[in-house]
Amino acid sequence: MANRPDNPMAKSGVIQLFPTYVWVAQLKPEVYEPINGKIEDYLQDLEQRNPELSASGQWQTAQDLHHQPAFAGLMTLVEANARSICDSLTLLYQGLHVTGCWANVSQQGFPHRQHIHPNNYLSGAYYVKTAPGADSISFHDPRPQATMLVPPARNQDLANPDQVSLDVSDGMLVMFPAWLNHSVAPNRSAITRISVAFNLMFPEFGTKMASPLWRGDTGAD
Ligand SMILES: [Fe+2]
Repeated sequence: MANRPDNPMAKSGVIQLFPTYVWVAQLKPEVYEPINGKIEDYLQDLEQRNPELSASGQWQTAQDLHHQPAFAGLMTLVEANARSICDSLTLLYQGLHVTGCWANVSQQGFPHRQHIHPNNYLSGAYYVKTAPGADSISFHDPRPQATMLVPPARNQDLANPDQVSLDVSDGMLVMFPAWLNHSVAPNRSAITRISVAFNLMFPEFGTKMASPLWRGDTGAD
């Protein structure tokens, strides 16, 4: 239409405001295979020492896996990726560290309900073991007002995406703002799904990054 002589517009376009970013990276097999092997061995050892875990159908580890040697390789990649994300956003910061890390182990039929990860800036999930039917994560529209009117559309996903499902695979690293609601559909495969979740925060946020966002009319005394 833009080139038609009867088009009254000299110029037109769409501006996307307040985008919600989800950063996705797929590790190379030669990188993720040894990482996943160490993680699976670590979890298998936990299950052997605590048989009630696998009997429950779904369990989570303690939240200190970022201090465990088996997770060191993954943590190096996570922190480097997080710094790259913050740099792409042009943030002014120094430290950025993992504050919590845990594994999720889910047998057939088990979901993860919708949630956020409070008290952090970035969160993410890394995939150790997936299969068709256990290979997605859903993100939910963070704008509560957006669901007030939902007109019918030929492509409802494009017009009114109240949630977006992302396909994931072994060795995939997915990162997102810690405030973004997300959930996982029930495991519809025969395998036990394994993911590792983590949070990152600026350690000096309270001392160096939390000043008011405006300048006063007088200087400091
Ligand atoms: Fe989560």
